Parts: sequence; structure tokens; C-alpha cells
Amino acid sequence: MALDTSGQYGSMVPALRCDDAGDRATLDPSQVSLARAYQDHFKIGVAVGRNVYGGRDDAASALVASQYNRLTPENALKWQSLQNQPGVFDFSQADDFIAFGEEHNMEIHGHTLVWHQQVPGWVFEPAEGQTMTRELLLQRLEDHMSALAAHLGGHVQYWDVVNEAFDDNGGLRGTPWRMIIGEDYIEQAFRLADRHFPDAKLVYNDFSMENPGKRDAVAAMVRDFQSKGVRIDAIGSQGHFRLDGPALGAVAASLDAFAATGVEVLVSEMDVDVLPPANQNQGADLSVNAELSERLNPFTECLPSAIVEQATARWAQLFDLFVQRSAAVHSVTLWGVSDAYSWLNNWPVNGRTNYALLFDRQLQPKRAWQSVIEAAGETQ
Ligand code: G3I
Repeated sequence: MALDTSGQYGSMVPALRCDDAGDRATLDPSQVSLARAYQDHFKIGVAVGRNVYGGRDDAASALVASQYNRLTPENALKWQSLQNQPGVFDFSQADDFIAFGEEHNMEIHGHTLVWHQQVPGWVFEPAEGQTMTRELLLQRLEDHMSALAAHLGGHVQYWDVVNEAFDDNGGLRGTPWRMIIGEDYIEQAFRLADRHFPDAKLVYNDFSMENPGKRDAVAAMVRDFQSKGVRIDAIGSQGHFRLDGPALGAVAASLDAFAATGVEVLVSEMDVDVLPPANQNQGADLSVNAELSERLNPFTECLPSAIVEQATARWAQLFDLFVQRSAAVHSVTLWGVSDAYSWLNNWPVNGRTNYALLFDRQLQPKRAWQSVIEAAGETQ
């Protein structure tokens, strides 16, 4: 993989030398925490898996407890984890997750009630003797929410009620939820959630919200719900950013459009992907193609300092913007504890070495972490 002098991905100049020296913070995370640095602005959250709440990585657990004041489960509260078989609920992961968050006085964010991924197939199929209807799927959704409310009730402060329902142009995705229930399924899900989770804030969550089509459709949906008296309390804008996009102006415009509806805005799944886009090679098996592997997975040993610089600056600029918008921003949640645990090592192709978060693979703070601390503009 080669870089041109502007740091953009290209193939015309020799690769920059890999040097590892550049990506260490000088501040000490045992003395300085993200949560404290941002206490006058917004909460700072992190998405975690079993490694953190299941006691598999004590160092990661300690880091989470010391740096963050809000917690989202990466997978533990998805339908597949909770009710993989009809009527058979498994709250073991959920209980561990909540116990960890409560032990450390963290705000708990539930993710997610209605999504088209990580839902077992049976949810959309009729059982023997049944016909798959709108009423049957709404009943299954209500039964799911009712069981979650009974078990998790007051322990979850925010719920992603519906996740990723719009396409980039602002149209509704053709998910099984929409096909079976109909165009109003998002509204119906919020009505049910309001009934079952009266004390939790109800969130619509999506990615690429800087895209004007999607941004405007989500804002219009919120206003429509407000005009009908359907409770919606927050918009989650995931914030899966790249080094070179979306432009800061587009991020600002979407935060402003959402703030203008009057609901809270959550940056709900933030990371900064530093690897080359896979484009038409999405899903490729890098283990059988050396040329592709070198092109798409160029930083297996370390990240060249030119890219460390760009990533550090990008994190600082984004947090500067969030601070400017802190009247509307409730929280910023990072999608993973360290580079080792980022989903971006396995998407859009499997088995890459990405550097998408604030702590490195040894859980050491990166310069990006320090730039985020400094963007808070306060001494602790
Ligand atoms: O649980 C199985 C395990 O039994 C099996 O051995 C293993 C083998 O691959 O897979 C495990 O499931 C994985 C699951 O995470 C739990 O670790 C799935 O393969 C894997 O695809 C799944 O990925 C999750 C992804 O959502 C699914 O779409 C990521 O961890 C999670 O970070 C990601 O999170 C999503 C948000 O929910 C919504 N917004 C986008 C975000 C990133 O994709």
C-alpha cells in the first residue's frame, strides 16, 4: 500500500516507512479521564462485549470503568442474544452487562429492539398453523418488549427502539419489519416502546446521517411523531467516520438539523476508520489474495506517522465540533474499547488491522485520546 504526499491513498509513490514511535499519548490515563474531561459538556460512552463485562479482560474492564460514564452493549441486548428461540429468553449476558455498568455508576444504553440484523429467522416466519401477518409480528415485538421490560425495566435509561431503517436517500429500507407490518412499523415500535419502557428515553438510531437524504427523512419522521403525540426522545447518529469523510460541515449540518427538532442528539457509535475503502472488494477473502491483502490491509505492523497525524487531527476536529454543539449533544459513545476490539477489523473485509479507536492493542492511550481530552478545553 502506498500513500501520496497529501496522505491520500494512491499507488503512484513508494510506501511510507512504518514507524511506531508516533502514537503514544504523553498524558497519563490513570490521572486523566475522558468522562471527567467532558463532565461539563456531555457523557462519554463506550460499546462493550463479554471481554469487558464477562471478566475476560480485566485490564479492559478497568480502563472502561475509569474512562467512561455510559455503556452500550455491542451485542448483548440484540434479539438474537436475548430470544434466539421463540419464547426462550436468555438474560445471562444482559445481566452481566448491566451489573458491570451499575457497579461503575454508568448510564445504560439499550441496543436495540427493532433491527433487520441479528434477529433470528423465526421472528419473521409463521409457526405451524399460523399465517404471517402484521398483527402477529407486532404481537411478537410486544412480547419481546414486555419480557425485556419485566427483566431489565428500570435498569436501562436509553433504548434504541429502531435501528437503521432508512436508506441513504431517505427511503425506508425493505426490511422484513416493513414488509410484514407496513410503512408505519417505526411508529408502531415507538408506541409499543413508550408503553413498555415509560421511564427510558426512546431513540431512533442510524448511520451515515450526514447524508442529506437520510438526515432530512429522519428529522421529518421525528416531527411527524411529535405532531401525532408519538414519544421519541432522541436521535442516535452513529458516527462511523472515515479519515477523509464525511466533511465536518456535513456532520455539523446533521447535528443542527436534529437539534432543531428539539430531541436530544447522541453520537452513538463513533470510530474513525483509517484503512483504504474496500469498494467492490467488500467481503473479499484476503488470505487467498496477496495483492489485495497488501492493498486493503497495509498497516499490519503499525500505523505510519503521517496517518497517525491525520487521525489525531480528525478526532480533535470532531470533538471540537461536538463541544460547540454540546447544548444539543447528550453523549458521545465510542464503538469499542481498543483497536483490538473494533468491528472495523472485520468489516467490510475480514481480518484487517485497523486503528479506529482511542486506545491501542495494548490498551495504551493514543495521541488521538489526548487530542480528545484536550478538545474538552478544561483542566480536570
Ligand atoms: O456469537 C457468535 C459466535 O458464537 C461465533 O462463534 C462467532 C463466529 O464468527 O460469531 C459470533 O457472532 C458475531 C457477533 O458479532 C458477536 O460477536 C458475528 O459473527 C458478528 O457479525 C457480530 O458483529 C457485530 C455486528 O454489529 C453485527 O452486524 C459486531 O460485533 C457489532 O459491533 C456490530 O455493531 C453494529 C451495531 O449493532 C449497529 N450499527 C453498526 C455497528 C457496526 O456494524
